[in-house]
Amino acid sequence: MKEVSMTTVTISPGGEVLEAAEGMSLLEVLLKGDIKIPHKCDGKASCGSCHIFVQEGRKGLTKIAREENEKLDSIVGVGSKSRLACQAKVLGTENIKIELLGFGSGL
Ligand code: FES
Repeated sequence: MKEVSMTTVTISPGGEVLEAAEGMSLLEVLLKGDIKIPHKCDGKASCGSCHIFVQEGRKGLTKIAREENEKLDSIVGVGSKSRLACQAKVLGTENIKIELLGFGSGL
């Protein structure tokens, strides 16, 4: 049986550190850790409400696919560190640091 790699996801501004197993999306990691994050479309890359910034460990996540890219393009305030938490899956190779966007940011 293949071993599942565990890495951590550190969240700012709260400073929580969550364990993340390979294959989990960041949204799943956050929800499992009781971190509140909007996810209106339940992970279908169509609402954009789970937009976060990845501060460190981008290489420890799956690459941005076309659907995610298109959605990100339509969101205001997107930067080079932007991801949709529901689409970015943990590869288990690097620890990750993310920043949650403030609630009430209009999303
Ligand atoms: S939950 Fe809707 S885009 Fe991620």
